[in-house]
This record gives sequence, C-alpha cells and structure tokens, in this order.
Amino acid sequence: MCGIIGYVGQQDAVQVILEGLRRVEYRGYDSAGIAIAVDGKLAVAKRSGKLGSLAAQLAEHPLPSSGCGIGHTRWATHGGPNDTNAHPHVSADGRVALVHNGIIENFAELRAELELRGVTFISQTDTEAAAQLLALELALTNDLTVAMRTVCTRLKGAFTLVALDTQNPECLVAARRDSPLVVGVGDGENFVASDVASFIMHTREALELGQNQVVTLTRNSVQVSDFDGEPAEPQHFHVDWSPAAAEKAGFDWFMRKEIFEQPRAVFDTLLGRSDAAGRLLLDEIRIDTNELRLIDKIVVVACGSAYYAGLVAKYAIEHWIRVPVEVELASEFRYRDPIVNSRTLCVTISQSGETMDTLQAIRHARVQGAKVIAICNTVGATIARESDAVLYTRAGPEIAVASTKGFLTQVSAAYLLGLYLAQLRGTMFADEVERYLTELSEVPDKIQQVLDQAERVYALAADVVDTQDFIFLGRHVGSAVALEGALKLKEIAYLHAEGFAAGELKHGPIAIIDETTPVFVVVPPPGAGQLHDKVISNIQEVRARGARVVVLAERGDVAAGSCADYLLELPPTSVLLQPLTASVPLQLFACELATLLGNDVDQPRNLAKSVTVE
Ligand code: AGP
Repeated sequence: MCGIIGYVGQQDAVQVILEGLRRVEYRGYDSAGIAIAVDGKLAVAKRSGKLGSLAAQLAEHPLPSSGCGIGHTRWATHGGPNDTNAHPHVSADGRVALVHNGIIENFAELRAELELRGVTFISQTDTEAAAQLLALELALTNDLTVAMRTVCTRLKGAFTLVALDTQNPECLVAARRDSPLVVGVGDGENFVASDVASFIMHTREALELGQNQVVTLTRNSVQVSDFDGEPAEPQHFHVDWSPAAAEKAGFDWFMRKEIFEQPRAVFDTLLGRSDAAGRLLLDEIRIDTNELRLIDKIVVVACGSAYYAGLVAKYAIEHWIRVPVEVELASEFRYRDPIVNSRTLCVTISQSGETMDTLQAIRHARVQGAKVIAICNTVGATIARESDAVLYTRAGPEIAVASTKGFLTQVSAAYLLGLYLAQLRGTMFADEVERYLTELSEVPDKIQQVLDQAERVYALAADVVDTQDFIFLGRHVGSAVALEGALKLKEIAYLHAEGFAAGELKHGPIAIIDETTPVFVVVPPPGAGQLHDKVISNIQEVRARGARVVVLAERGDVAAGSCADYLLELPPTSVLLQPLTASVPLQLFACELATLLGNDVDQPRNLAKSVTVE
C-alpha cells in the first residue's frame, strides 16, 4: 500500500503534492518522492525515511516551479526502503517518471526482457520495470496515453500507475487494475490520487475509475478509456468527509478501517506467490533449500497476536510437513535454555519487525545454529534483515495498535510457508498444494462476506455493553482464534477476557461460568467430524451453567445454530483455514464495544504499536 498523487493546474505542483502526500502518509512512510517536468527535463527529489525527510530536502534544495507533477509515499514490497528504490522511478532515457501502488507479479520476466533489450536498471523494485517499459513504448508512439494502455496489457498483478512525460509536461496519464485510483476535478486544475484525502482541501468533486481503465489529465480536461482505447464514463461523486475522516476513508478509527481492508490485505499477501510452473516463491531466500529439507524441528517465536498466528501455523505446518512445531513466546524462549541446533528452523512472526523480545529470541536461535525465516510486514525491518529468509506480508501500514490485518496476513503467510515447505520436502502432492492455494485465493471474498454482517456483530456489542467478563472458546486452530479474540477485547475495551481450548474448560475454568458470562465459541466446520461434535458438547456444558453463548459457526451448521443464543455465521472453509474468517467477527466486536465504551480504539492506554524494549 502506498500513497500516490498527481497534479496539473495553476498552483505550484510541488507544494500541492507535498501537502497531498502528508494526507496519505498513513498509506506508507518508508520513503517518498516528487517529480516535475521543467524545460523538457525531469526534476526529481526522492529519499528514504518519512515524508519529513523529503520536505527538509526540498526546503534546502527546492525543485523549480511547475504546474504539473507526481508524488509518492512508499510502503516497500519489493526492494528495501532507500533513496534508489523510492518513487518516482525515471526511465533510462530520462523522459518518463512513474509512481506505482500495488504489486507487478511479472516484473522479473519484464526486467529480464528489457535488460536483453539493453535497458540498465538501477533499483530492486517491481515498479522500475513498468517505468522502463513505458518509456520504450512512448518512444514508439510518442503518445503517453497509448503507451500506458499497451504497458498495462503486459502487466500481471495489481497496480495504480501515474506517469509524466517531459515532452508533454502539462499532462498526466494514470491507470488502475485491482488498486485504488480517484480523480479530483477542480476549476482549472485536476488531481489523480490513491485516496481522496490527498486533494479534498482543493476540490470535493471526484471521479472513481473502473477496473482496467486509463485516465489522461490536463488542467482543463479528463479523458477516460479502457486498456483497448474504448472511451469510458467514470462514476462521479461528491466527497463530504472532513480531511481527518478522509484519512480513515470515512471510518471512525484506523482499526475499523484496517478490519475492512483485510480482503485486500490478504489478497495482496497471497498475490504472485508462485512461478509460471506453479512453484511457491518466498520473498528473500538466503537459505540453501537442501537445509530446509533436512530440518527436524521448527520453533515459532513471536509475541501477542503474532504468537497466536504462530499457534495457527503450528497446526497447519505439522499437518502438512510432519515435522514437530513448537510455538514459543519470544519473551520466554531464550530463558528456558531451548533445544535448538543446525537442524532447527526458527520461524519468527512480527508485523513491525522491531519487537525487541522477538529480535532477541531469533538472535539466540541463530547463535544456537538455527536458520531463521521471518514473516514480517515491514520491508527492511531489523528482524527481516537479521533473518535468513523473509516472507513479507503485504498488509500495508497498520496504524492502529490493535493488530487486525497484520494478524490475518500473518496467518495467511504462515499457510504459504507451510505449503512451501511441504512442496520442498515432498510431503504433499502438487495437486494438494494447489487445492489449498485455490482455497486461499477465495478467502478475501469470504472475509468480505463476514464483513457484510458487521451490523449483526455491532448489535451484539451494544447488547453486552455493561458486561465485565468474557470467555472465548475454540478447539484446534479455533483455540488460537479464541486467544486472539480475548486479546482484542483486553487491549482496546480494557475488559477481562480469557481464551481457552474448549476441552480445557472442565479442568477448572468452567467454575467461573455463570449466567452473567457471555461465552464466544468458535465451532469447527461440520466436516471436522469429532472436533465439531465435541465443541457442540462444550457449548451445552456452558449453557447448562446459565452462560449466554455466542456461536461462530459455518452457515448451515444446524447443530451449532440450535445451541446458540446468538449466532454469527461464517462462510464455509476447510478446518485449517477457518481462522481467516472466524477472527473477523471478534475484531469487529472488540472495536465496536471499545467504541461504545468511549475508549481511544486506535491508541489504547498503556500500549505501543511496536514494543522495542524487552
Ligand atoms: C496485537 O493486537 C498487539 N498490538 C500486540 O500483541 C502485537 O501483536 C505484538 O506486540 C507483536 O508485535 P509485532 O507483530 O510487531 O512483533
């Protein structure tokens, strides 16, 4: 996820763009840049670090005045956050500047083709391949719109692109597929951006582009077409949000916005993970794959929600590769003198990539001879840099302290890692791996189906707003979901909430159950056989003690529905993948209850987004 803006009009483009980037810095902040065209040449300022670093550079070395330009604030996916990888990217002939949001799946093939055609690349990004290809097409057509259409038909993946041509400096061309792009229509000026927040201080009249469309902007014209050149009519809308609301896309909290971003975040995390032959690919592999074939134990180290994602990973990875998986709280790991050696694979999970407990744990594991694979949401973070391989989640920046899309993309990435290891070690047939990959590709839509039921969850939150204690139960991967659901409530509603493996209830915790205790129960899919039936029995046990039971179960699960005081239905999934849907109602519930209690949902008391101290 990155922030993009393009401007053409009578104002100073650099100032308009800088302000516009400030409004979307939540979309990415590891590097930023601006490009304008002056006297037939590009003038570009870009650097790593937050937008403030770019602003400081511009204050010291201002760009010339111009009425047209493009800007970008980055959340790295391909290539670390540094000056070279920062956008805009400039073509080798110096004619085209390009900014991009999304993932170009086939960038490696395009790069190889272009290098064979004599193009020299300078960055490690997927974006540069599009910039270089666009310049070659422009040299043939001398029409940026036509060149953009041609390039878009060659790109695979999700993208928003905005380009500037030095030989037509009062015109911008943008395109989108599976990535946001809106046009701001002003008086003698026009804007193009990933988010209306970038331009609503100048105009509230906007156009929403459809899938696979190209838009050509001048200060007084907006022309839209599809990739084949057929004219298209964009959807006009008026933006009535305040600037602050616009940064949250109209949501009240970043947390709620990030909950609703999860279909996209999981989609992006899964995108482009296998090559043309169907083989799974990880982002940065610095481990000999033969070493991965020889491991005889996996240790997952993480904290908080990331630890619960690790618990889900345990069930999946053990089932798929038949190697024992220990899941450890990073803060405990190195103090228990763990048994780790060169045949141990350490998997670390961290959204921020800076959690000190986790960092110290992997350092300890490495000293003991283990190889480390990181699942991380922050490209170039310390944990990623100190690991032997990285599988980046692509959730985009997670602003709210309470992790939601970070957690769901960690679980998604853990499944990918499990399938990658199963494929490498031959413990699953290719068709079995393919079946799970196909089911994973359907998950974003299933998450959306759960989000579409949000009002039902909100009604439940309102119903229990005076309750002080909550219990969450689940079995198998559902027990990790129960723990995560309880953590969300603790974190932002400041209420007592506990998650248990449902089978553990009768060994003590059931004593605290009475008619005042709402009990949330994650019921495995009916296909889980005994696992499903035992959870139904657990529900009856707690109902016998007067508890009010909120059941999360698959649509059509009659047995579960019949013993629910409040039923939250889930789309069908296989047993192992249910956390990707069952976690969502619990996130919504915690967010709504905390809101009703008047808490600061995004910045809950006593907590920080990244715990960089032990
Ligand atoms: C989750 O809602 C919390 N914010 C917290 O438990 C978090 O998951 C934990 O601190 C780990 O953070 P990390 O993923 O950045 O390492």
